Amino acid sequence: MRIIVTDREGSVQEAEGEPGLKLMEAIRDLDDSVDAICGGLCSCATCHVYVDGEWLGRLPAIEDDEEELLDSLENRQSNSRLSCQIELTPELDGITLTVGPEE
Ligand code: FES
Repeated sequence: MRIIVTDREGSVQEAEGEPGLKLMEAIRDLDDSVDAICGGLCSCATCHVYVDGEWLGRLPAIEDDEEELLDSLENRQSNSRLSCQIELTPELDGITLTVGPEE
């Protein structure tokens, strides 16, 4: 499945994902992508992404841990998510997102 990523330099790249992987795991090896320093433990917020509007409603709901971390970000927007908290499913094939800025 495809994931379309606008990186921190503004370039559009395509990542390959598989159902069951976390979104973060599928995009972290791209250049200028998320840092994901905590490795997906929901404790660093360096996997912050902005998800394109049409995909937002297909994502799992934001849990309390994620909400708290998102709230600590200066650059949070209404479409902000932590990519380590999103498990890929076949319905997310083609998901389009932008990597959040470094904070
Ligand atoms: S990788 Fe650290 S919160 Fe997502």
